[in-house]
Amino acid sequence: MQSNNKNILRAYKGENTKSLGRSPWWLMRQAGRYLPEYRELRKTAGGFLDMVYNPEFASEVTLQPIRRYGMDGAILFSDILVIPQALGQKLWFETGEGPKLEQNFDFEKLDLSKIDDTLSPVYETVSKVRQKLKEEGFDHTVLIGFCGGPWTVACYMVQGGSSRDGFEKVKNFAGAKPDVFQKVLDVVTDASIHYLSRQIEAGCEAVQLFESWAGLVEGNEFEKFVIRPNQKIARAVKEKYPDIPVIGFPRAAVPEDLKSYAKEIDVNAVGLDYDVPLETALDIQKTGKCIQGNLNPDLLLAGGEGMKNQVREILQSLSTGPFVFNLGHGVIKETPPEHVAELANLIKSYRS
Ligand code: CP3
Repeated sequence: MQSNNKNILRAYKGENTKSLGRSPWWLMRQAGRYLPEYRELRKTAGGFLDMVYNPEFASEVTLQPIRRYGMDGAILFSDILVIPQALGQKLWFETGEGPKLEQNFDFEKLDLSKIDDTLSPVYETVSKVRQKLKEEGFDHTVLIGFCGGPWTVACYMVQGGSSRDGFEKVKNFAGAKPDVFQKVLDVVTDASIHYLSRQIEAGCEAVQLFESWAGLVEGNEFEKFVIRPNQKIARAVKEKYPDIPVIGFPRAAVPEDLKSYAKEIDVNAVGLDYDVPLETALDIQKTGKCIQGNLNPDLLLAGGEGMKNQVREILQSLSTGPFVFNLGHGVIKETPPEHVAELANLIKSYRS
């Protein structure tokens, strides 16, 4: 089967679910700690980053959910924070606390020239995953590459890790040192273009921009910090690889900003979080863009009737246009794997 005939790629390129038979699907964080086989492999590998930079482990972990549930998309196993690390800012993960990035780093020292020294194992993972998907007969599954949105990545870089107060420090920094902040965004943007290009050359068939903290800014700031860098990345990727779908996920953006994002940026698909009003989703879909989303991960965690009802509602409302089923944010680590199996059956048996 030619890769451009895969249903999920047809959906990203604007075909209706009806002509595809059923909605294609995958889940953000489908590879991860809710799976016993992930936890098992993680024990052997050591830390999370040891797994990311080991192509054998990372390719296995990418395939684990596909072997169980047969999703139409395999999301590359990596992290958005490998970019700051490749640019020279130290990165580590502390158990129970999440990511940490070197504090008081001099952003003048960000260095684009050697990023592949750090990132080349990720490209090797990409080729391995493509090879394994083929060998194991997953002809309908595409490999999706990704990077973080520059605003989200810059939030972690300036904060030095996760934040409990909505990255107040970052907003203050952007206000007090606008030129330095802009430089961080620019370097991360250029690094991301290179990183995605290399992922595509190694075999990724679609790419997603994870702008998880898009909702922290609105209006002019949204335009400057989210839309412009995302547009630069999407445009550069489209110019070099016009056939590769680009998915944008500006999580928690307010409806007006979300619509501007969809209108101004050359993305094929827009990922929606679970708070997006249905009218906003339909407005975007009517412009010909594919919608991706947006089951609440809490409902997948809980399972049962609540989950079933929302899944049916989403499929009924969104599968009249171009649509790829996903969550509104990542799988929660306490989610029972059986709930994912149930979700897979619901999606596969639903007919619009
Ligand atoms: O299935 C997949 O989605 C796998 C690939 C993937 C990971 N992180 C693996 C991961 C992707 C696409 C990401 C993106 C990512 N990473 C984002 C954007 C999406 C989102 O969730 O909002 C962000 C903000 C990060 C940064 C990051 N990485 C944080 C804040 C954490 C700690 C959170 C936690 O749950 O502990 C990580 C670690 C991380 N990235 C894990 C995984 C599977 C957990 C690592 C482990 O302990 O095994």
